[in-house]
Amino acid sequence: MNIDVFTLFPRWFDWFLEQRHVRNALERGHELETVDIRATTPLTAGQVDDTPYGGGAGMVIRVDVVESALRARYGADPLELRRHRRVIALAPGGRQFDETLASELANEKEITLLCGRYEGFDERVNEYLASDVVSIGPYVLTGGELPAMVMCDAVLRKLPGALGHEDSALEESFSAALEGAPEYPHYTRPADWHGYLVPDVLTSGDHGKVREWRLEQSRRRMGQA
Ligand code: ADE
Repeated sequence: MNIDVFTLFPRWFDWFLEQRHVRNALERGHELETVDIRATTPLTAGQVDDTPYGGGAGMVIRVDVVESALRARYGADPLELRRHRRVIALAPGGRQFDETLASELANEKEITLLCGRYEGFDERVNEYLASDVVSIGPYVLTGGELPAMVMCDAVLRKLPGALGHEDSALEESFSAALEGAPEYPHYTRPADWHGYLVPDVLTSGDHGKVREWRLEQSRRRMGQA
């Protein structure tokens, strides 16, 4: 998979790119690269944003600046790009990112993430250049960089070999194996901690009962049981 993150702050990703599961994915041939939106701006003095039409506070990232960054990266007409590549603009008002979307994206070959800043993108970026507008939750962050890292984290850990222990991704929160519910509670040694005990069933050695108990706990967390 190839992920390009378009951002005004590529250095934000230095730390992220060094993390083990990200490095694992890169070593397996996946790609995660940052593209500096400012580097290809057609405006003078590195300008990328402008005041909003209609007035109001804040600045808006210009559509021609994003167009120019996409053209420089991919060569093709940026208006055609979303036909064959997932181009995702990050904005608080977009489709909420969840496990289903993470799985969907893990099956894509090529993804572009556009990180907004200030008051976000000119709406024509969302409408004509992006294939999707995605939010990581109903709160406003200073930009799309953290949302991009959240999404990359959730997507990359789904790729074979990223975690180094394949089973853990199978039966985890919101997986089909758990009927889309949050994961059951986990316990480890000591079995008795200040008198707070691990549930008996987990130390019983009865795998069938353990499975039943876990599913029930998982359903309970979902509010179903
Ligand atoms: N940019 C600012 N806040 C955001 C959010 N919650 N999700 C995605 N992009 C954002």
